[in-house]
Amino acid sequence: MKIKNNTVLITGGSSGIGFELSKVMIQNGNKVIICGKSNEKLLAAKKAEPKLITYQCDLAKTSECEELVDKIKINHPKLNIIVNNAAIVNKIDFLNDEKALELAENEYQTNLLAPIRLIKLLYNTISANESPAIINITSGLIFAPRVIYPFYNSSKSALHSFTQTLRIYLKNEKTEVFEVMFPAVNTPWHKGTPPKIAIRVEEAVSQMIKGLEKGESEIRVGGAKILYLMSRVAPGFALRKVNSIK
Ligand SMILES: NC(=O)c1ccc[n+]([C@@H]2O[C@H](COP(=O)([O-])OP(=O)(O)OC[C@H]3O[C@@H](n4cnc5c(N)ncnc54)[C@H](OP(=O)(O)O)[C@@H]3O)[C@@H](O)[C@H]2O)c1
Repeated sequence: MKIKNNTVLITGGSSGIGFELSKVMIQNGNKVIICGKSNEKLLAAKKAEPKLITYQCDLAKTSECEELVDKIKINHPKLNIIVNNAAIVNKIDFLNDEKALELAENEYQTNLLAPIRLIKLLYNTISANESPAIINITSGLIFAPRVIYPFYNSSKSALHSFTQTLRIYLKNEKTEVFEVMFPAVNTPWHKGTPPKIAIRVEEAVSQMIKGLEKGESEIRVGGAKILYLMSRVAPGFALRKVNSIK
């Protein structure tokens, strides 16, 4: 995939991996559009990187997703890349949390259904342009789930599976389909207490870009590669290892 002269939508580009990716893409001469729920975070991102084009949108809400798509079609018809990066995680005690089902719905809407919705609604736009690509962000946890995240693992595993089928479905089309599986990365995601094994966000995005440039359809960054191999050779050990991370 070429990293220059694209028009890119990065969901969740106001924080962490999405923000770092936005900066790198701008440095490489791309036009970058980001969205996020919090207007404050979008304003802060725009202040730090004035070339960013920002839209406030709660992707978990179908109507807001559709409004975002309409604005993009009108204002940015040259869009050729979608990066489905925005996601949330709820760390809960499944049976004892009274809000578990509400949280599950919001998490699957954000992590799984919003990416599917954006791809469906924006496919004609990106595929009408040169070098179209879809990049879905998942996690090493698709190979071995972590018990404290009862919905997150499966939302990302489902996105992984959807991405695989989409790639095969589009194999005769010009649109490329990528998936980037990240290990723990030190971002605001961890609310100030990242796991000890977390890598720097700059390193995570740099490895992602290298994988995209090489045309790797599944990019396993850092520890996600190790977890992938471990889960193939010794799945029980991989599960125990992932659930012992501090
Ligand atoms: N950090 C890690 O350790 C790690 C590991 C593996 C995979 N990943 C994946 O990497 C991606 C980015 O994570 P990160 O670490 O950069 O997280 P982050 O710093 O928490 O950023 C998440 C971004 O998503 C946005 N977002 C969340 N819900 C949204 C919604 N309903 N509508 C619109 N925007 C929404 C957030 O904006 P608001 O806050 O304004 O909603 C924020 O911009 C995620 O897909 C995550 O699953 C992260």
